[in-house]
Order: sequence, then structure tokens, then C-alpha cells
Amino acid sequence: MPVKPKVLVTRRIPEAGLALLRERVELEIGPSEGFMPREVLLAKLPLFDGVLCLLKDRMDREALDAAARLKVLSNYGVGYDNIDVPYATAKGIVVTNTPDVLTEATADMTFALLLAVARRLSEAERIAREGKWVWAPDFLLGADLHGATLGLVGFGRIGKAVARRAKGFGMRLRYTLARPSAEGDELGAVHVPVPEDLLTESDFVSLHVPLVAETRHFMNAERFRRMKPGAIFVNTGRGGLVDQEALARALNEGWIAGAGLDVFDPEPLPAEHPLFRAKNLLPAPHIGSATPDARNGMAVCAATNLLAVLEGRTPPNPVLA
Ligand code: DGY
Repeated sequence: MPVKPKVLVTRRIPEAGLALLRERVELEIGPSEGFMPREVLLAKLPLFDGVLCLLKDRMDREALDAAARLKVLSNYGVGYDNIDVPYATAKGIVVTNTPDVLTEATADMTFALLLAVARRLSEAERIAREGKWVWAPDFLLGADLHGATLGLVGFGRIGKAVARRAKGFGMRLRYTLARPSAEGDELGAVHVPVPEDLLTESDFVSLHVPLVAETRHFMNAERFRRMKPGAIFVNTGRGGLVDQEALARALNEGWIAGAGLDVFDPEPLPAEHPLFRAKNLLPAPHIGSATPDARNGMAVCAATNLLAVLEGRTPPNPVLA
């Protein structure tokens, strides 16, 4: 009987993905809660032909050097800033990710944050529970989405899915950091080549670009200052896209009106971080893809990618260096 390849799944993922692997590889599965401690991961890496890792697993040079027989690193996620892709590629390790399956869930979460910040839902919930409010013409006024301009930084799968929702809400659309696209034209979205122009024109700004060296702290103090004082900022991409101290200032000093964040740098952001004391901030604990369909889809996608490489086929979702 041929020897099965050895595969490490660094933390338990939905059974839909594990079931695909069980038949065809010798499988070791990490903890069901939390994540595999770094030192445990480093000690295990030399033993495996394939690793299915999560966003919390830092696959840097040290980890990749430890992984002497590794052929494939299958990321359970679409973002892969946890992996040194150029170094992995130079070592002959194929890196894969899980696009598409989480697009709609993440776009929904983006819209949930847009609406919740615009209509002040956290504040509204607290006030309703206190039971002391009186309806009045000027009570808890929020921002209209209808007729407002949404500026999308990035116009890939998730950016476009957000744009489709925004169109249904009667928003005007702008996008930047992407080439003009046919789908943009169909949605009536205007391509804005200069990001600063998009920030100046938009009532809502949402980030949908990967975190790479060029996009780290894309939203810095200078760019927050370009936004309208009444504007709302949303980030469901990666925390590292934002200079969080600059965002705290932007909120506290009224450069912008509010922010909804699903991602932080680091995660979790410590409870005592100044950003949590900023005005009009709605934080969420990285739940953009947290629906059963999306998470099962990610598990199947990550397992399929991994098996393809180990069985000598081209994986459906390779990440190119
Ligand atoms: C991803 O896949 O990159 C997401 O951040 C997980 O929700």
C-alpha cells in the first residue's frame, strides 16, 4: 500500500474539510479551541508534507525553514499576510488560499457595520435597554445611506460584492486602487485613480485591499484628514491597513464621524488600547466570514487545494509570489 502523505491541520476546522482529508492523508489535527502555540507548531513542522494553517499561524522564514519536507501550505482564509509567500515559493512550497467562498458573508458584514454605525445601533441598544428615552424629532439622528457616496478602496471580489449591495441601497459608488472594471461600469461605479480624491468625495469609505508592504497603514493621519467630517469609515480587510492611533485621533478630534472595524492589529487588540476609548467606534471581533456556509466552504476549499498539490495536480487557488 502506498504511504499516505502526512498532513497537519493546525486547529480543528469544519468536518466538511476534514472528511475530505481523512481518506487520503495521514492526518493530525491541532486543538479544537484557541490555536497551536508557536513552539508546538515549530516542533511539528518538520514532520509534515502538507499543512493547513489559520490566519493566526505566522508562517515566516523561521517556520518555513523548520518545514523541511513541506510541499503545500494551504491557508484557511483568503488573506495570506500571515505567510511569507515569496520565501515559501523560493523554497518550492505551494501556497493556497480560500477566495470566493467567503465573499458574500464578508460583504454582508461590511454592510452590517456601515448601517450600524450610520444609524448608531450600539448607542440605540443601550438607550432602549435603559428604558428612559422619549421619541423626539431630533432623537438619535443618524446618516442616510440612500444618496450618499460610498468610496471603496479596492475593487476585487469583496469590494464588488459590497458595491452590489450599495447599489441596492441607492448609494453612489467610487472605487480606487484597482483598474477600471466592466463590472464597475455596470454598477455605475466611478473609477477614481487618486485615492485622496476618493477620500475627499466619499460619505462612507470601506477598505477591500490585501495587506502587503505597500498597503500597510494605507489609512494614515494624512488620509483620515482628507475625509469629510461627517464620513464613516469601515474596515473588514486587515487591521494593518490602518494606523490605529491616527484613527483614534480622527474619531476623537472629529476629523470623521464614526468607524466600524472587524479587524485589528494585533488581534485581539488589548482591551486597554486607546482605540477602544475613541468616540463613535463600533468594533467587532473579526467575524466577517463567520457564517456556517462560509466557514464550511473555506474548509472544503482549503482541503481541496491541499490535496491537489499533494496528488500532483494544480490547486484551484494558488497564491502567486
Ligand atoms: C480571511 O479569510 O482572510 C478572513 O479575514 C477570514 O474571515
